[in-house]
Parts: sequence; C-alpha cells; structure tokens
Amino acid sequence: MSKEGLFIVFEGIDGSGKTTICKMLENTLKSRGINVFFTSEPTSGEYGKIIREKLRSGMEPLEAVLLFALDRYYHVKTIGELLETGHVVLCDRYYYSSLAYQGALLGEDMIKYIEEVHRPFIIEPDVVFLLDVRPEVGLSRVRSVRESGIEIYEEVRLQESIRKIYLRMAEEKGFIVINAEKPIKEVFSEVLSYVDVILK
Ligand code: TMP
Repeated sequence: MSKEGLFIVFEGIDGSGKTTICKMLENTLKSRGINVFFTSEPTSGEYGKIIREKLRSGMEPLEAVLLFALDRYYHVKTIGELLETGHVVLCDRYYYSSLAYQGALLGEDMIKYIEEVHRPFIIEPDVVFLLDVRPEVGLSRVRSVRESGIEIYEEVRLQESIRKIYLRMAEEKGFIVINAEKPIKEVFSEVLSYVDVILK
C-alpha cells in the first residue's frame, strides 16, 4: 500500500490525557491548513459499541483480545484510506493498547500471540507517543471527570502492570515517552515540537 500521509498514535494508561492532547493537536494542525483526521479506539463502529458496553458490564480477557482486534480490523481499513489520500491521522489508542492491557490481564507471555493476531492487517504508525503518568494520577483524573460508574480496567494494580508493559515496549519499539503529569500546556508543546520536526 502506498502511504502518503502521516500516522501518529497516542498511547498511555487511563487518564494520561491522550484524548485532550489529540484534540489540541487536531485544532492546531487544522488551523495551519493541514488535512488532519482524529480517530480513536475503541471505535464508534459496530464492534466498538459492543466493547463500550462490555467495558461497563464485564469481558473475559481473551474475548477482549478478539473484540478489540475485530474493531481494529475495520478501523485499519479506514486509516489506510485516509493515509492514501494524504491525511495526518491522529489515533487515540491502537494495537499497543491490546498488547499492554490484555497482555497485563492474560500474562506477559501472551503478548507475542496478541501481536500475531494483528500482524496480517496492521499498518505500522510513523510515530507513537506514550503519555506516561502514574496510575494514581491517571485514575484520579478519570474519576474527577466521569459522572458515574467505573470501567473494568480502572484499578491501580492493573494500571501499574499496564504501565510497566508500555514502558518496556517504548524502549523496544522506540516510542516517544512524554511525562504527562506536567500541566497540559507543557505536555502539548512538547508533543507539538516533535510533530513539527516530523512534518518538516
Ligand atoms: P479509552 O478510555 O481510551 O476510551 O479506552 C477504553 C478502555 O479500553 C481503556 O480502559 C483501555 C481499554 N482498551 C483495551 O483494553 N484494549 C484495547 O485494545 C483498547 C483500544 C482499549
């Protein structure tokens, strides 16, 4: 597949500020006249909707691997079309979320199998930002904005395991790690300075 655009992924534990940063970046790039498209996982598609319900009611870890991968399979087709037409695609979570979250739940020796499930259809991003916060910080942010209820992965010890996997992947796969405990404006200007370099 010829890839004309730029594919930028944001990852991090719950409450790391990915969505806020993506939206700030989307606005900034749009204001410069750049063709930018913001998207996220789980998607708002057929399988994404099922996942959203199950994030409240419960989901087995292996079931989650397959549902997230299925949701992503269709998402990747859309992303591919956007890249072919020259868009900068900002993606709030991608398959690294499955490696980190479902890997933490199933056991780290399962990560390679989760990666295998994705291998036939995945498009590798040009850059991945890991917005890194401690779980206590992330979860307190989530709870301060959420009106009611909690989702199944919002638990400090689990988030600690997820963060550990993310940080290891960052080293292995060359993610850009940003300290996302800083004020949002600082986090954003750091992200933007990297994006500016990539766009040049
Ligand atoms: P969100 O809070 O970023 O909208 O994501 C919803 C939850 O789904 C969050 O706890 C992370 C989790 N998740 C996975 O466990 N695996 C995945 O592959 C994705 C995309 C999200």
